[in-house]
Amino acid sequence: MDLGLSGRVAVVTAASKGLGRASALALAAEGARVLVSARTASLLDELVAEIAAAGGEAHAVVGDMTDPALPARLVEVALERWGRLDVVVANAGGPPTGRALDVDDDALLAAFQVNALASIRLARAAVPHMTERGWGRVVFIASASVKQPIRDLALSNTARTALWAWTKTAAADVAASGITINVAAPGLHATDRLLERGVPAGARTGTPEDFGKVVTFLCSEPAAFVNGTAVAVDGGATLGLL
Ligand SMILES: NC(=O)c1ccc[n+]([C@@H]2O[C@H](COP(=O)([O-])OP(=O)(O)OC[C@H]3O[C@@H](n4cnc5c(N)ncnc54)[C@H](OP(=O)(O)O)[C@@H]3O)[C@@H](O)[C@H]2O)c1
Repeated sequence: MDLGLSGRVAVVTAASKGLGRASALALAAEGARVLVSARTASLLDELVAEIAAAGGEAHAVVGDMTDPALPARLVEVALERWGRLDVVVANAGGPPTGRALDVDDDALLAAFQVNALASIRLARAAVPHMTERGWGRVVFIASASVKQPIRDLALSNTARTALWAWTKTAAADVAASGITINVAAPGLHATDRLLERGVPAGARTGTPEDFGKVVTFLCSEPAAFVNGTAVAVDGGATLGLL
């Protein structure tokens, strides 16, 4: 199947490691030109070099997803460099653990900033350019917790369901413009984030590569009729029916 991504331009944030990095690599493998962003310049440089060595094209912009100026910069660099922006994969680091009644205002607001607002801002900056061209894909990397909250991850559960609700609302607004907005909802994947939190005993984990391929499909031409959906990539671990 031709994913129709050759020559398209994609922005992937929080791309220096883990799921974001794997998504950038998978998009590049399909011929997309990728603008990668995160806070660690050295890791981004390695990623750009890896994509170039495989015959692809990438460029790095160092930035923090909580910086309100970053989305406009990413859009500007993509347009300056390649003259178009077709795909946004918005990702950010996960918040700390915490029980629902223990997390305070500051922690909740910080989680909303990183795991909801930052991604919404990036979509808001990119969608006008997609609308002009009549084609666009936005994928938010969230968590399977949008379907089944995870115990002691109150901050993540709360912020990510806010992003999911925004996604569902926005998807209906952009559908007529050839744009889709979806959530890719990872279950357990073997990345630094998971190793820091600890793998639950007996749990099966996915690889970042598994996840990157699903993100890439959601960004593809054949996924044109998949809109306003949260796709669980969790090996069947989520027990909820929605
Ligand atoms: N792995 C899993 O099993 C799993 C499951 C469910 C949900 N998730 C969620 O999926 C997302 C990606 O997870 P992962 O496992 O790939 O994590 P990871 O391996 O720890 O990588 C996190 C990435 O986020 C970047 N980042 C963190 N804070 C940032 C910020 N403020 N601005 C820009 N970039 C930032 C990091 O780069 P820099 O440090 O260079 O900025 C890094 O590239 C996280 O939100 C995580 O909570 C992961």
